Amino acid sequence: MSNTVLTTKRLTLRKMRHDDMKNLMEIFSDREAMRYYPSTKGEKETNDWIEWTLANYENDRVGLWIVEDKKTGEFLGQCGIVPQEVEGRSEMEIGYLFTRRVWGNGYATEAALACKKFGFDQLKLTKIVSLCDIYNTPSTKVAERIGMRREKIIYKWGKEIAVYSVSI
Ligand SMILES: CC(C)(COP(=O)(O)OP(=O)(O)OC[C@H]1O[C@@H](n2cnc3c(N)ncnc32)[C@H](O)[C@@H]1OP(=O)(O)O)[C@@H](O)C(=O)NCCC(=O)NCCS
Repeated sequence: MSNTVLTTKRLTLRKMRHDDMKNLMEIFSDREAMRYYPSTKGEKETNDWIEWTLANYENDRVGLWIVEDKKTGEFLGQCGIVPQEVEGRSEMEIGYLFTRRVWGNGYATEAALACKKFGFDQLKLTKIVSLCDIYNTPSTKVAERIGMRREKIIYKWGKEIAVYSVSI
C-alpha cells in the first residue's frame, strides 16, 4: 500500500514511520529550527512525536506528513494537519517544520497549500488555522502566503501566539 498522501509540483507528502527518527532528528536537534519551541528534542521526545502523529492518523485521518523531494526522495521536512485547542475549542491546524538546509525555496508554502486544499476538499473542513509565535516571521509569512489572515492573539504554550485562519 502506498504511503503517499499528497503530491505537488515538486513534493511528495507521505505518512510518517518509526524509521523517520533520523530525518526528524535533523530538525529537532537543530537549535535554530527549534528556536520558537520550548527546546530541542532528543530521541525519546522524537519517538513520542512519531507516536502522537500515528495516533492522529488513526483518530482523525490527519497528522503531520513527511515531505520529500518528488524526484529524488530526499527528506525536506514535515507538514500536515493537526488538531489543536484554541480557547477551549478544537481547531484543525496546518503545521510546518522544514530542515534548515532547504529553507527559502518555497517548499513550506507549496506543502501547506496542498494541505489546505486537502483539508477543504477531502476532509470537508470549513475553517483551518495556523498557530504562530508572534516573533516567528518565516512562519507567519507562510500562513499569509497560503491565504490566511491574522484573526487574534491568544496566550498558549506560555506565550503570545498569533492565530491565522482561513474559512470557506
Ligand atoms: C517556517 C518554515 C517552515 C518556513 O519554511 P520555508 O520552506 O523556508 O518557507 P518558504 O520557502 O515557503 O518561504 C520562505 C521564503 O522562500 C521564498 N520563496 C522562494 N521560492 C519560493 C516559491 N517558489 N514559492 C514561495 N516562496 C518562495 C519566499 O519568498 C519566502 O521568503 P520571505 O519569507 O522572505 O518572503 C521554516 O522556517 C521552518 O521550518 N522553521 C522552523 C520550524 C518552525 O518554526 N515552524 C513553524 C511553527 S508554527
